[in-house]
Amino acid sequence: MFNRRKFLGSSLLASTGWFLRTPGTTSFTYVNKPIVISTWDFGKAANAAAWELLSRQGKALDAVEAGVKIPEADPNNHSVGYGGLPDRDGHVTLDACIMDENSNCGSVMSLENIIHPISVARLVMEKTPHIVLAGDGALQFALANGFKKENLLTPESEKMWKEWLRQSKYEPVINVENKKYSAADKSFAPGGPQNHDTIGMLALDAAGNLSGACTTSGLAFKMHGRVGDSPIIGAGLFVDNEIGAATSTGVGEEVIRIVGSHLVVENMRLGLSPRDACRKAVERIVTRDPQKAKGLQVGFLAMKKDGSYGAFCIQKGFTYAVRSGSEEKIYESESWFS
Ligand code: GLY
Repeated sequence: MFNRRKFLGSSLLASTGWFLRTPGTTSFTYVNKPIVISTWDFGKAANAAAWELLSRQGKALDAVEAGVKIPEADPNNHSVGYGGLPDRDGHVTLDACIMDENSNCGSVMSLENIIHPISVARLVMEKTPHIVLAGDGALQFALANGFKKENLLTPESEKMWKEWLRQSKYEPVINVENKKYSAADKSFAPGGPQNHDTIGMLALDAAGNLSGACTTSGLAFKMHGRVGDSPIIGAGLFVDNEIGAATSTGVGEEVIRIVGSHLVVENMRLGLSPRDACRKAVERIVTRDPQKAKGLQVGFLAMKKDGSYGAFCIQKGFTYAVRSGSEEKIYESESWFS
């Protein structure tokens, strides 16, 4: 049974977190909880929704689902959910995954016509013996569980797709301070669109449990059927409740190649800080092919079990949002190339 006196004897509440007694010692470790972090500036609004739950002793799993549903429903966000840019054939196909403190996880890939893929991913986790459902199967599962079929291609996204069709140039654009990378010239020029892609969110709740969620419409004008890192457990998201959690954004193929988020968590297991763990994963991508890396953006975001957090990316321009009892802030990530 929960013993409040014993609990208070081994923990102290600070204004913005907890000092927990290190087992078998008389020393205390500071734990910054609850806290939620997420990728990009749009993470701020998503964090606010997650914070509503976390600040009232809610579960990290519920918080990350509620949080990422904000950009999923935002028609002005062209890289997640409703209003996401379509593939080259005009289909908005969504990828998402979710993972909790007990290594339960669920994922959907290439899901069409469902505004909240993250909630379908959660149901895959909770209602099936499987981890991943893809394409039509994922859609059938969603419809059988009460989700409504909706057109996710907004007039604005359709217009952007039709403009793209005029040239139909298959050149994934990456977000580097609004600049556009030209594979032909191997350089950046001003005026690129904001291709922010994924929202990845990590939360540590008041009970000290970690969860994460990740959701995207993927690379704009991708090949039909292309799946990125975001719905792949270990690539776009990984949670280990003993150590920490990580998520990624950017060119998914490069993240999958190194099973990026899992690598970041394993780097933290070896003792690296969240920022250094992310940097080490970026280093793995850059050193594999330094020339190619000049035209790539990948960003990692990580949180340790004590609520400390950090990020690192290849190119300047990756931001992340933090919400805790002591701060609500957007940070610019350090980058490999300046
Ligand atoms: N990181 C998102 C994607 O590559 O689809």
